[in-house]
Amino acid sequence: MNSVSKTNPSHPPFSEPTGPSRILVVDDEAVSRDLCRDFLGMDGYAVETCETGGKALALLSIHKFDLVLADLSLPDSSGVELIKQIKYHYPGTDVVIMTAFGSVSTAVDTMRAGAYDYITKPFPRDLLRVTVKRCLENHSLRQEISKIQSELFKKDKLATVGAMAGAIAHRMRNPLSIIQMCAQYLERKLEGNEEYMEILSAIEEKVKTLEGLTRDFVEFSRASRIKKASHRIDKLVEEVLRNSAPKCAFQKVEVLQSIKPDLPPVLLDADLIQEVLINLIDNALEAMKGPGKILLSVELDKPHKRVYVSVANSGSVLPNEIKEKIFEPFFTTKETGMGLGLAIVKQVVEGHGGKIQALGDPKNNTTTFRFYLPLTGAHKEAE
Ligand SMILES: Nc1ncnc2c1ncn2[C@@H]1O[C@H](COP(=O)(O)OP(=O)(O)OP(=O)(O)O)[C@@H](O)[C@H]1O
Ligand SMILES: [Mg+2]
Repeated sequence: MNSVSKTNPSHPPFSEPTGPSRILVVDDEAVSRDLCRDFLGMDGYAVETCETGGKALALLSIHKFDLVLADLSLPDSSGVELIKQIKYHYPGTDVVIMTAFGSVSTAVDTMRAGAYDYITKPFPRDLLRVTVKRCLENHSLRQEISKIQSELFKKDKLATVGAMAGAIAHRMRNPLSIIQMCAQYLERKLEGNEEYMEILSAIEEKVKTLEGLTRDFVEFSRASRIKKASHRIDKLVEEVLRNSAPKCAFQKVEVLQSIKPDLPPVLLDADLIQEVLINLIDNALEAMKGPGKILLSVELDKPHKRVYVSVANSGSVLPNEIKEKIFEPFFTTKETGMGLGLAIVKQVVEGHGGKIQALGDPKNNTTTFRFYLPLTGAHKEAE
């Protein structure tokens, strides 16, 4: 397994790749179209052009554009009609209209149809530059706000589910332990009676399953209550590996580790980060289904003051189509899974100010989960 034997696996960065803003210029006048393309191109935008509304809609169906700069009178449609179509099918794309007839009623029509702004032809380069810049700044601000809103909504939902689940699970613990104690008592009393022993061991097995479930729920609710202290992450990882060794050996899984020496202390909740690693290792074992290799590595990213922790396994490739869903609570592809493991992992990592990423590599038949934790403040606490 290639990627597992690497000591310093390289992965794409966590931040989304951000290219230049993409602009589509729609104008049947070649001179005006080319001028806009050249001016905007010189300002660093990625510009495409076309001469009709029909072609603009066709291009929009293939590529994502941040802004359409369209002439008001096009050979095949009015600019107002084009704005309506764009706003209906691609609400995330802004439209700025260029018009030779700068009447108030035209401006009102275009704005009503959903245009961000309009400019009157002929316009100086600076006016084009300012209008486009303002529109795109507004565009990215709106995108940022809607991202934050949806994150907040998700967090709120998670916190409610977590609190409810935790409370129910907590109350289930007592009755479960009483059932278990009764089963153990009867086991002692009925020792030697094969038939009853079988029934009792079935009861105990199911109690264990329920205990596992309640533990998951309690952890899920606890994942939002993080108590940080300064810890040596290498020691913490080694402890998790020591505790996981028997189940890995049982499945004939070789565990490799690559831990950078002299790591600085990290401010973290040791129990919860251990839980994160246990969840990732359990998932790896379950995905491999049989013998294979797991690599646990810890790297230092000094410039960004972070530590990166990765758990990579051979013999399974996380499918691309479920990559977005796996961190949602209750998403599972397993018959007996609850789908809570990675939701807990994400909540804990993000609660520490970090981020987690999953990567399936079909070429090497491996899956890697990689998260970072910030180092900020840990030194002071450690002193
Ligand atoms: N190492 C991996 N390789 C391939 N797929 C994985 C891996 N880890 C997780 N997955 C996928 O992500 C899904 C969600 O994982 P998660 O840990 O949240 O839930 P689960 O393991 O199904 O159930 P639970 O952890 O609650 O018992 C899994 O069902 C599986 O499809
Ligand atoms: Mg799991």
